[in-house]
Amino acid sequence: ALVNVKDMMQAALEGHYAIGAFNTNNLEWTKAILETAEEQKSPVIIEVSEGATKYMGGYKVVADLVKDLFEAKKISVPVALHLDHGTYEGAKAALKAGFTSVMFDGSALPLEENIAKTKEIVTLAHFMGATVEAEVGAIGGEEDGVKGRGEVADPEQCKLIADLGIDMLAAGIGNIHGPYPANWLGLDFDCLAAIKAKCGDMPLVLHGGTGIPEDQVKKAISLGVCKVNVNTECQQYFAAATRKYIEEGKDLEKKGYDPRKLLKPGFEGIKEIVAIKMAMFGSVNKA
Ligand code: G3H
Ligand code: ZN
Repeated sequence: ALVNVKDMMQAALEGHYAIGAFNTNNLEWTKAILETAEEQKSPVIIEVSEGATKYMGGYKVVADLVKDLFEAKKISVPVALHLDHGTYEGAKAALKAGFTSVMFDGSALPLEENIAKTKEIVTLAHFMGATVEAEVGAIGGEEDGVKGRGEVADPEQCKLIADLGIDMLAAGIGNIHGPYPANWLGLDFDCLAAIKAKCGDMPLVLHGGTGIPEDQVKKAISLGVCKVNVNTECQQYFAAATRKYIEEGKDLEKKGYDPRKLLKPGFEGIKEIVAIKMAMFGSVNKA
């Protein structure tokens, strides 16, 4: 069965590695992430945004797809199904549909309201055996209409939210969603160290995993990051491989337009980048 992230996060914290959380969009994405995790013997978090959930047909469709594929493919590594950047309503709906973990992203709310709603989601999620990620200090960039202000989190506020019984904390440390601009200043490690010092053993989450240089990812993991979110990079690999197939005219060859053929290179592209990230995060052979 799918699991929550509790044991994954604890093992990652103690073993100084991180678990990759990859956003899914459809059947190909879900299959690619599951297959790669099994091949790499790596625990994995399949996450989904509210936008992608809507695209796929709702929380139940997503939960059923992930659960059924997990079983049909006889996956033996730990897999969690997590709601990414959830609203208050979305987090509740995801839990009801059988998600094993949810992010409640109250980073755009006034702190008092973020605290109150995070608390409520924690109570509900833990009652249902699920885990909760909360956020302080919005991540920059934009993901599925969720806009971040790009701020760096205040360690004191992180401590307030961390003490609400959450299982992992996402904090803005100069990271942004989508590709990084050429003039990006890099991650703010002083801020990350200050958050770590305040929040102790709270597993930290690094959003915007696309395009962060390997040395910075590793340094962030050494400072307490236990989960790294990757979305855009899977899309880029999928798009590049699909473009190559079409530019080479393969879709015009015998039955090359069959979706099972047309989508295959993109599928393999997702598998390739997921494996690269798992190696970078140190989660290979940790299942
Ligand atoms: O919540 C998802 C991630 O933060 C993904 O960020 O698209 O930059 O990889 P990314
Ligand atoms: Zn994010």
